[in-house]
Formats: sequence, structure tokens, C-alpha cells
Amino acid sequence: MSGFSFLAVLLLKYLAKSDLGLFMQITIISGSHRHHSESEKVAKHVQTVLTARGIHAEIFSLAGNPLPLWDESIWDNNPAWNQILAPLSVQLAASDAFVIITPEWHGQVPAGLKNFFLLWGQNELAHKPALIIAVSSSTGGAYPVAELRMSSYKNNRICYLPEHIIIRQVTNVLNEDASTNDPTTDTYYRKRIDWALGILERYAQALAPVRAADGLFNEEFRNGM
Ligand SMILES: Cc1cc2nc3c(=O)[nH]c(=O)nc-3n(C[C@H](O)[C@H](O)[C@H](O)COP(=O)(O)O)c2cc1C
Repeated sequence: MSGFSFLAVLLLKYLAKSDLGLFMQITIISGSHRHHSESEKVAKHVQTVLTARGIHAEIFSLAGNPLPLWDESIWDNNPAWNQILAPLSVQLAASDAFVIITPEWHGQVPAGLKNFFLLWGQNELAHKPALIIAVSSSTGGAYPVAELRMSSYKNNRICYLPEHIIIRQVTNVLNEDASTNDPTTDTYYRKRIDWALGILERYAQALAPVRAADGLFNEEFRNGM
């Protein structure tokens, strides 16, 4: 690498991690297994808002179950697992923050989303902020928030914001066809999501130097307690 390229790479790395908001990347995980789900509708809205804020936002959807259920061969560097996980690992590792969108299914987080959290180690989600958005077509949504906060972070070390969003009666809001939206709740959710994403952006800026510091990973304490 020439001296100029080296400096250019250093500058890009600095800008990406600086508090200027440049080149920030956020991955949105849509946790529904269903095709054409409400979770994915919300994910697209979040992507639009983040893009308008100058953030590179990509959606990874669990529709159709793209990730196999965890099995033990993942620990033996099974090439089949590597092939599936490598591109996603690169995308997650390059992300500064996450939005985790979960529907409430039988009062729970969908199994595919819980499986997602089993797959990652110190390089992908660790010490990065994440906003939870729970989705219900009725009045649910609190259970999956509680479940994610209690049991999805221990070994992958994702950091949930204290702020979260619960979108109830989700079919009445954030629709492209405005005539199908309930005007009052639609306006409320659009404003609240925008505000919460602004908080996520600030946490992403604040936690970048934390990850750059020494001592965060310790082989002796590979897993959380
Ligand atoms: C298997 C299944 C179980 C569900 N259980 C609940 C539930 O316990 N509470 C609730 O509020 N909604 C429940 N719903 C309805 C979801 O809130 C609704 O499907 C909503 O659109 C969010 O899911 P989606 O992202 O898959 O569309 C359930 C839906 C499915 C498919």
C-alpha cells in the first residue's frame, strides 16, 4: 500500500468512528419469519428515516428462515456454516449500531430471532448499541421487549438502549398508503421512532471509542456471567 493510500484508509477509519456522523452504518434486523410481515414494513420505515439522516442502513430479514438452527458444528469451523455466516458477519462487524425489530408471537420473540443471537461472538454485536422495536397487530409487544432485555445479550454483548418502541395496532400505522393509517397514532409513532433513532445515533457515536479501547475482550471471560 502506498503512503497516500495508507493515509486515506486512516482518514476514512477516523471519519467512520468520529462524532461527525459520517459513514455511520446501522443494520436493521427484521425478526419475523413471515414474508410480507409487519415487522418488515416497520424495518423499511426505519431504513427510510436513517437514510434521511445520512446513515447507511441495511435490512437483514429473517423472513423464510435464512439462518439454520444453531448446531454444535459451528464451533468446529464447519465450512457450511462459514459460507452462510461469513457475509453477514462482515456486515454486522461493519455496523455501528442495530435496530432489532421483533413481533410478538405467542407472547414471545420468534425462534429465528433467538437463534440469530446464538450465532455471534466478539466481533459482530458486542458493545454496540441497539434499539428494540416490538410489533403487535393487537395490544401486545411488552413481552418480547422484556425477553430481549433479559435473554439475548449475555454472550454476544449487544447493548440495548434504555429507550424502546412498542408499536401496537401496527396495521394502522406506517403504511405507504396514507389512507390506511390512523392519523393520530401514525403521527405519534413516526415522531417517536425518529426521536429514538436520534438517540441511537448518539449512542453509536459514544460507544465507538469504548470499542477502540483495550481490555474489552478477555479470552478467560469469553462468555458473560
Ligand atoms: C405465530 C403467531 C403468534 C402470534 N402471537 C401473538 C401474540 O402473542 N400477541 C400479539 O400481540 N400478537 C400475536 N400475533 C400477531 C402479530 O402481532 C402480528 O402477526 C403482527 O403483524 C406482527 O407479526 P409480523 O411481523 O409477523 O407481521 C401472532 C402472530 C403469529 C404469526
